[in-house]
Amino acid sequence: MKPVILSGIQPSGKINIGHYLGALKNWVLLQEQYECLFMVVDLHSITVRQDPKVLRERVLSFVALYLACGIDPDRSTIFIQSSVLEHAQLGWILNCHTGLGELQRMTQFKDKSSRQESVQAGLLNYPTLMAADILLYGTALVPVGEDQKQHLELTRDLAIRMNHLYGEDLFVVPEPFIPQVGARIMSLQQPERKMSKSDPLENASLNLLDSQSMIEKKCKSAVTDSGSVIRFDPANQPGVSNLLTIQSAISGVSINDLVSNYSGKMYGHLKVDTARIVNELLNPIRERYETLRSSEDELLELMAKHAIRARKKAGATLRRVQDALGFVPV
Ligand code: TRP
Repeated sequence: MKPVILSGIQPSGKINIGHYLGALKNWVLLQEQYECLFMVVDLHSITVRQDPKVLRERVLSFVALYLACGIDPDRSTIFIQSSVLEHAQLGWILNCHTGLGELQRMTQFKDKSSRQESVQAGLLNYPTLMAADILLYGTALVPVGEDQKQHLELTRDLAIRMNHLYGEDLFVVPEPFIPQVGARIMSLQQPERKMSKSDPLENASLNLLDSQSMIEKKCKSAVTDSGSVIRFDPANQPGVSNLLTIQSAISGVSINDLVSNYSGKMYGHLKVDTARIVNELLNPIRERYETLRSSEDELLELMAKHAIRARKKAGATLRRVQDALGFVPV
């Protein structure tokens, strides 16, 4: 049996090339060696208010993008979190085994709650739901970014705690999986910040579904610096360095080789080339996406099939947990 890998992205904002190069591209490779489950975590996204119409469209669009990027539905399970009811069930049980202090200490909670006027309880309980996502499938490895490591640590604590209380083989204790090739892609407008789904600046992110001309426009208006030499120096030339990182992450050409090819050339060249390379990557993805998105019935059918697949596994784990806790089966 292959080890299980599980990960998910929140359907908020738009998927950008940072997500592709940092997560999706790796997910595609992982399918070869692992049993993979990839979710669109809509339950997590409603910890802040969402417009229902926008949410529905976004969830379907994210699923189609996963597929368009190369997640193979014959090998991996792709599902919408809310279709697998067991997540909320196990989430509740875990909430009843989690200290309030443990949740209040989470950096992401402190950060997000301090920026909101009213804070919903779901924002506090976010990590226990994430733990449920992971523990339901006997997940061995969880590919996550730096910002989610603390949540994974809590997941491990909860698994160990539950195992002590109810039986050592109840949960697999998961490990974080930090991919070897992971480029940190920065905002095109504020290159000292990560490219982010929630960035309100219009030209900051290269989104997977941007048109060819939008990519060109955004690359052209990327913030660089007042110098003129193309060098890889993230501290002093973050904008230029970011464009080099993007090119290298997509093409596989080393940054050193790129830099020597650019000797004597101007920032304009770098920008035009970056746009071209990004578009070469995105053209086939956009095409597959359009095909997938043009038949919603088929997409929904696939999601229904995969939800059943996921529920079979999640249901078996939940039943074991319920038995261990003394819940009477019907
Ligand atoms: N919290 C994760 C994020 O914001 C998303 C997520 C939810 C997740 N459940 C998960 C990631 C389970 C990995 C495994 O990035």
